[in-house]
Formats: sequence, C-alpha cells, structure tokens
Amino acid sequence: MSNSQTHAGRVAVVTGAGRGIVQAIARDLDARGAIVVAVDLEKPAETVALLGPRALGFAAGVSDPLRTAAVGAAVAERFGRADIFVNNAGTFPFREIGDLDYATWRRVLAVNLDSQYLMVKALLPLMRQGGWGRIVNLTSNSIVTATPGLSHYFASKMGIIGLTRGLANDLAADGITVNAVGPTLSRTPGVLAERSADAVSQVAQAQAIKRPGEAGDVAGTVAFLTSDDAAFVTGQTVMADGGLARL
Ligand SMILES: NC(=O)c1ccc[n+]([C@@H]2O[C@H](COP(=O)([O-])OP(=O)(O)OC[C@H]3O[C@@H](n4cnc5c(N)ncnc54)[C@H](O)[C@@H]3O)[C@@H](O)[C@H]2O)c1
Repeated sequence: MSNSQTHAGRVAVVTGAGRGIVQAIARDLDARGAIVVAVDLEKPAETVALLGPRALGFAAGVSDPLRTAAVGAAVAERFGRADIFVNNAGTFPFREIGDLDYATWRRVLAVNLDSQYLMVKALLPLMRQGGWGRIVNLTSNSIVTATPGLSHYFASKMGIIGLTRGLANDLAADGITVNAVGPTLSRTPGVLAERSADAVSQVAQAQAIKRPGEAGDVAGTVAFLTSDDAAFVTGQTVMADGGLARL
C-alpha cells in the first residue's frame, strides 16, 4: 500500500468493497488520496471504518438496475462527479455443468457481468462530464486454466474482457480508459468459503511466483491503471497473478 497522493481528490466508486480483494483496493485508493464510495450488498461498515473520513459506504446489489441508478444519483448529489469506477462485485460458486441450474447461471452472469453494464450506465454521465475517467473491471486468470466446475464463471469473466474492449472504443474520446485486471486464486473470505487453503497453495505451484495470492496483490495494478500515468493504456487485460496466465 502506498501513501503517495497519486489519486488526490478523485472520486472512486468501488463495488463489492465489503471484504477481500476489493476492500484492499478501496484501502489503497483511499491511502492515495481518493474519495472512496464503497458499495456492497450491505453497507460495508468494516471497510468504511478502515478508510479515511472522506469515504462513504453504500448498500446496493449491483445487479439491480434500481439500486445501481440510486448509487449514481447519490454520487451525483454528494460529489457532482465520478472519476474512477472499479467493478469488483463477483460471485464464484463451483458447479459442474450437470449440476449448473439456470438460476445459478443467471445469478453469476447478473452479478459478475450485468453489474458492469448497469454501473457504467449509472456513472457515465458524471464521468463524461468530467472529461477524465478510469474504469477497471475484475476478471480472473482462471479463464485460461483447466479448472472444472466454473463454466458459468468463465463465461462471465470472458464477457468482462469483451465489454472492456468495447467500452474502451466507445469512451476514448471522453478521456476515459477502460481496462481489466485478473487476479490469481487468492486467500479471500469468498474463496476460502468455497475452497481449502491447500487448493489455493496448489494453484500457486503453477504460477511463476509460487506463493498464494493475497487480497492486496492486485491493488498496485489497479492504482496504476486508475492513475494519470496510465493515460495511454486502454482495452487491456492485465493479469496480476504471479505469472500463471501468460497472455
Ligand atoms: N479471490 C480470488 O481468488 C479471485 C481470483 C480471480 C478473480 N477474482 C475476482 O475478484 C473479485 C473479488 O473477489 P474476492 O475473492 O475478494 O470476493 P469475496 O467473495 O471475498 O468478496 C466479494 C464481495 O462482493 C460482494 N457482492 C457479491 N454480490 C454482490 C452484489 N450483487 N452487489 C454488491 N456486492 C456484491 C460480496 O458481498 C463481497 O463483499 C470478484 O469479481 C472475483 O471474481 C477473485
């Protein structure tokens, strides 16, 4: 985590910020001077308590168009601007295709992919108005692995890469860049509810850097992609994953 004020005064909306990877990203952006709006299903009280006094917590399910519109309206009313949007809300239940019911398929696509469309639509007027913007979407390095039971998850995370590329085309003239970041399997509350610590360590053995991913491992990459320094980087997918996927 850095204390350099690379993001001073930027309003950064971060979804799925209640714990795990996104809580670490929120903390890093806050330490860099951003005003963080932390969004999760329930108001992310723990995250807000870890952030500076500028931060705001908001309860919203980001696959619900009414709730995402409410986030956009609240940010407009409170700050009148949105500079950075980091879309992280995600869910990853393991289901082999025979056990993958339609409700689970729909839920994973809605939370992981529809949310991206809905939140961008909610924040876009504010971002365009500012003439400067940074959008970062969380995908996953697992899209290139042979892990069984995740076809729905891979579909959503590949969809994020496609959306990232399309949005990069549409938003470049507004000064808005759009990129994706792929973590490796990391020791977060969400992962450890689904998989053992041993399984995480096994994946680490396939990485060039053979230690398990931690929640904070992608924060530096997100900080770069949301900074002025990344002004000429758009439509890209960066795997911050210890060197497992080599795209
Ligand atoms: N941890 C990993 O190994 C890993 C690897 C690759 C990619 N990712 C991606 O990184 C992101 C974060 O992963 P994590 O492991 O920190 O997850 P996590 O489960 O620990 O945290 C995810 C957060 O998102 C919130 N959330 C879920 N559905 C939501 C919704 N509809 N609206 C608002 N918030 C919602 C949850 O309440 C939770 O606080 C996800 O997009 C995940 O797919 C994680």
